[in-house]
Amino acid sequence: MIKTRKSLIAGNWKMHLSRKEAGELALAVRKGLDPDMKHEVLFAPSFTNLEAVRQAIHGSPILLAAQDVHWEDAGAYTGAVSPLQIKDAGCTHAIIGHSERRKIFLETDEIINKKLKSALKNSLFPVLCIGETLEEREQQKTYRVLQTQMQKAFLEIDAGSASKIVIAYEPVWAIGTGKTATPDQAQDAHVFIRKELERLYGENFATGFRILYGGSVKAENIDSLMAQPDIDGVLVGGESLKADKFLRIIHFRV
Ligand code: 13P
Repeated sequence: MIKTRKSLIAGNWKMHLSRKEAGELALAVRKGLDPDMKHEVLFAPSFTNLEAVRQAIHGSPILLAAQDVHWEDAGAYTGAVSPLQIKDAGCTHAIIGHSERRKIFLETDEIINKKLKSALKNSLFPVLCIGETLEEREQQKTYRVLQTQMQKAFLEIDAGSASKIVIAYEPVWAIGTGKTATPDQAQDAHVFIRKELERLYGENFATGFRILYGGSVKAENIDSLMAQPDIDGVLVGGESLKADKFLRIIHFRV
């Protein structure tokens, strides 16, 4: 199967690793990369590790993301990091609306919309995370939840700007649990998300838009996930912290 959308394999390192460890991991993955690789690879380390990782990937095609970004360019926001600051640290991308931020840090769809608009205004590429909880899935609310999260996230964002966004579909019940969505479950959700994008922005827009899957992605399931026509890449947590495993995921076989 030839996919027209460029695949993106992203590692979300969450609140793990020292500066030294993050730099070493970045370097090990860099050294193991297939020089003929056609898709994109993105690392999202902690803010404090951005500089070490930036140095380790300098001159390689690997991209750098922050795991979050504030909506203001500067100001009295203790603990927050602005789009200007993450760009200054070498980031081209920012993860926005991860379920851990929604759940633990009580981020609302309104905040996520503000962060998206601000990141786009500052020429950052957002990786917008959406996904349902187990309870919502069991109550057959998956599609409704995804639709609401998307409608609120994309509010007042025009098609030109929205085309810079990548969505990561991360069912909350699959994150860090070892319980991956089956390739069929992920494909179904991705088709729904693409249909919703078509409703919001039209068919051409939806066809060109990249949708990643996240949630217990590992070496053992990457090939079957990437074989799905609407899965354009993955956002990997735990398994992106081990160079050999992450490299196997990056070099998926379809
Ligand atoms: P795991 O791969 O550890 O399940 O985490 C997924 C995730 O949340 C990536 O953002």
